[in-house]
Amino acid sequence: MGSREPRLKRALLAGLLAPLVALLVLDTAIGWWTASRLADHAYDRGLHEIAREVALHVHEGPSGPRLDLSPAAAQALLVDQDDRLAFRVWTSAGQVLGGEPALQRLEPAGRPGAAARFASQDLHGETVRVVASWLPYDEAAPARQVLVQVAETLNKRNRLTRDIVASLLAAQLVLIAMACVAVVWAVRHGLRPLEALGRALARRSHQDLSALDLAHVPLEVRPLAEEVNALMLRLETALDVQNRFIADAAHQLKTPVAGLKAQIELALGEPDPARVRHSLAQLYVSAERLSRLVQQLLALARNEPGAVAAVNLQAVDLEAFALEISMEWAPQALRRAIDLGFEGEGRPSSIDADPDRLRDLINNLIDNAVRYSHEGGRVTVKVASAGGERILSISDDGPSIPPEERTRVFERFHRLLGGKADGSGLGLAIVSEIAALHGARITVEDDHDGTGNRFTVHFPPSEAVARGAA
Ligand SMILES: Nc1ncnc2c1ncn2[C@@H]1O[C@H](COP(=O)(O)OP(=O)(O)OP(=O)(O)O)[C@@H](O)[C@H]1O
Ligand SMILES: [Mg+2]
Repeated sequence: MGSREPRLKRALLAGLLAPLVALLVLDTAIGWWTASRLADHAYDRGLHEIAREVALHVHEGPSGPRLDLSPAAAQALLVDQDDRLAFRVWTSAGQVLGGEPALQRLEPAGRPGAAARFASQDLHGETVRVVASWLPYDEAAPARQVLVQVAETLNKRNRLTRDIVASLLAAQLVLIAMACVAVVWAVRHGLRPLEALGRALARRSHQDLSALDLAHVPLEVRPLAEEVNALMLRLETALDVQNRFIADAAHQLKTPVAGLKAQIELALGEPDPARVRHSLAQLYVSAERLSRLVQQLLALARNEPGAVAAVNLQAVDLEAFALEISMEWAPQALRRAIDLGFEGEGRPSSIDADPDRLRDLINNLIDNAVRYSHEGGRVTVKVASAGGERILSISDDGPSIPPEERTRVFERFHRLLGGKADGSGLGLAIVSEIAALHGARITVEDDHDGTGNRFTVHFPPSEAVARGAA
């Protein structure tokens, strides 16, 4: 009720019915005007006739024209069922011969011989129709004329007008009512496919993402329905990805949780405290692994396109940032006797980045390099610029990822066969999601001579830097 949203049906009905009602009003006004013209036309002739009869009672006397009309004769002449009548007679010299004194002479009444004139006038506070006519009263001398005016109240004229308008209006009303019914029906009928479409969508379960049947959709609504179908397709793809991820994640979690349970059971049944201790140490390692998996799953979900929490882009000095993170890895590298080095340009190099996500990206790449290269190996983090891009590369001298695996390692849960080190197979998937969020691209190659690996991330120049340079 009273909502302000646009309502198609209401707008159509209002747009079509309002002109019809306006038409009815206009039609009535025109009908009234025409009917009153018709009524005047019908009764004016009678009025003129009475004026002629009055003129028959004017005679030429010794001192000019004279009116011989007794009150009884006058009464007989002016009798009417509906209206009151009055007359007045003037000579051509302007002398009044008789009649109702309150009746004004019509001005200008023209010269003798002029055609009869009709007009409205006020008589004793009532509107009357008046005819003024110059009429001959002497057959021997038709040039001798008197001005006769006859007035009549409007009762029968008004009644005729009303009757004509009423009959016109009755016909009009029937026509307009029929038009309204036709309009309402046409609007309802026209909008039916749209409503059917709405019902078809409303009936669906959230799982039914099949395309809408476009066969009965009107041409005008087809673009909308096609957009809905395109959206369904996108939703279906997204849902597929989501479902696959949930299935994979559940599968990946099941094994370590089952392992943990088995280890705990074993430890519980162990009487020797030294062995219990040993089991607990193993349990700790398993729990750590599980915790890493859960963290990686969360990072993956966080950086998923579409399901992303707001990306908080800000200008970040890539060189300083990468150096800081590399230093945090020093103890870990030391434990494996890995020579962790850093090469920079020695000057600030800004990129637009979300610091938390950028940290995840760099951490995952260094983690892989440290984890998968040999003990006593070499890992280098390098920041450089080329062609306006800021380039971050992490290289190691461990076993190369075979060229045919270099795309697949970015897939979720994909790990190389035969690796000894632990991992959940999610790190590089997270890295590629984060790179995409930053508009960056990643390349992988061997470091040199077919050994080692180099992961390179090409960041577009910072907007601020690009603007400052322009
Ligand atoms: N620097 C590297 N050297 C050799 N192999 C690598 C290197 N980086 C990645 N790989 C291979 O690619 C696989 C996928 O790496 P990714 O980081 O996605 O997962 P993970 O390291 O196994 O698990 P996670 O990082 O989620 O703990 C690894 O299991 C490893 O086989
Ligand atoms: Mg990894």
